[in-house]
Amino acid sequence: MNFLKTDFLIIGSGVAGLYSAYKLSSYGEVIVVTKKYDYESNTFYAQGGIASVFSEKDDPEKHLKDTLEAGAGLCDIEATRVLVTEGPKHVRELLSIGVEFSRNKAGEIDLVLEGGHREKRILHAKDRTGKEIELALLSKVKSISNIKILENHSLIDLITQHHLTKSLEHSEITCYGAYVLDNKKSDIFPILAKKIILSTGGAGQVYLHTTNPDISTGDGVACAYRAGAIIKNMEFYQFHPTTLYHEKGDSFLISEAVRGKGGILKRLDGEPFMKEYHPMGDLAPRDIVARAIDNELKKSGEPHVLLDVTHLIKPDIMANFPYIFEKCKSLGIDITESAIPVVPAAHYMCGGVATDLFGRTNIINLYACGETASTGVHGGNRLASNSLLEGLVFADRTAKDISEQKCGFLPEHELVPQWDKEGMINTEEWVLISHDLNEIKTIMSNYVGIVRSNLRLERAYRRIQLIYDEVIDYYNRTVITNPLLELRNLVQVAELIIRSAMSRKESRGLHYSTDYKEDRNPSRNDTVIINHI
Ligand code: SIN
Repeated sequence: MNFLKTDFLIIGSGVAGLYSAYKLSSYGEVIVVTKKYDYESNTFYAQGGIASVFSEKDDPEKHLKDTLEAGAGLCDIEATRVLVTEGPKHVRELLSIGVEFSRNKAGEIDLVLEGGHREKRILHAKDRTGKEIELALLSKVKSISNIKILENHSLIDLITQHHLTKSLEHSEITCYGAYVLDNKKSDIFPILAKKIILSTGGAGQVYLHTTNPDISTGDGVACAYRAGAIIKNMEFYQFHPTTLYHEKGDSFLISEAVRGKGGILKRLDGEPFMKEYHPMGDLAPRDIVARAIDNELKKSGEPHVLLDVTHLIKPDIMANFPYIFEKCKSLGIDITESAIPVVPAAHYMCGGVATDLFGRTNIINLYACGETASTGVHGGNRLASNSLLEGLVFADRTAKDISEQKCGFLPEHELVPQWDKEGMINTEEWVLISHDLNEIKTIMSNYVGIVRSNLRLERAYRRIQLIYDEVIDYYNRTVITNPLLELRNLVQVAELIIRSAMSRKESRGLHYSTDYKEDRNPSRNDTVIINHI
């Protein structure tokens, strides 16, 4: 029988997956499953930085206040306090494993501003902070002999008692591992583990325009939902206000740190507009800036607004934003000479698999951390640069919880059936996958974007239901490939986002409905969805 066994199975190799692997490696064998290359993750593409209290002027209470304010009254205060107080220790640990953050002329860590922050507290590695952190963590993890990384392996489904050939007398849902697809060999096999961590990042690919890489298809959330995990707050999909508008550039991120350094959003006639929307102007929280730009575009009928840095000192721009400078230059835009055309694009999933303060889900042995998890720290709108921090803090807590438990049980592999390929056809119609995918993205972008309404959500729901049924039917009959798995997960995530949005009869944070506009229901809390299996 073809299977693997390990102590700890981690799905996903971004900051949360790698940091938890590193922390767990003293307690047993770890397998990290990742869909493409080991570094490919949302983390790798994070530009701006990691928010953490590092200056004398700052303190965790101020970071807490800014996070709660951005979160539109929905942050879990306890979880947020954990984030801001434990964060600095983990950022120092990154320094100790070799992460090099940018420094000022005096050799001190260069702290910058981003939207929603009232103090300079963003540590960065020029404009490629995520890459710096990802590569340092990878190099650490690869030096540890009991961590094995399986590249090019996709999560198909979590294994729970429902898959086993014999009942194990567990009344609560319990996870024993996962079925995975080896994309190179087209082979499907189970990996059995005592503890399983989902850290598969977000699902930006559910929209037409996103800053996320192709792999961001919500695999963790979709699999957890199918297994019976509680899913929270999926309506809060964050759109980054500024991505490059260019026919050849696919939603390339223009970091919020650009506005932190003094970049100004302007209409095409050169008029700044953000002060008309919020007292913090260009550094208002992200939901407000994205909505303001959306409003400007609707009013003007233009395809983009401008982000102007031409008044800043040219060598400073080139020193701080070399990646952005080069990317824009390659498309014929010299950002030191002319303003950058920008539009919002899908960026970050604020909801996800509900967890407690230790990454535990409602499924026994199953944990989630990073963007996949809903720890409560982002509420209705994530504060800029809190995501890498959340990945570290809650990966550490997850690892601690696992290490403190007596977790000895692995089912006999004979109880776990091999994947049944009987009756699967190898269709000639693979093109249907891209048709369905384009339809999902178009529906989500047209009806479930920055501004929503009851009518649009109902329309989206009806259409997604149809596609969902088609995809599941196709999935049940067809040989499994990675694109098919991704399609199945994306349609599931789309459905969860729409259902969550339909249930929130108010405007709050990233969920803005023209039917409720300024209404906020003071007693409305998290949106919770469970698949009762
Ligand atoms: C950015 O550089 O603007 C992204 C930072 C983030 O999403 O937190």
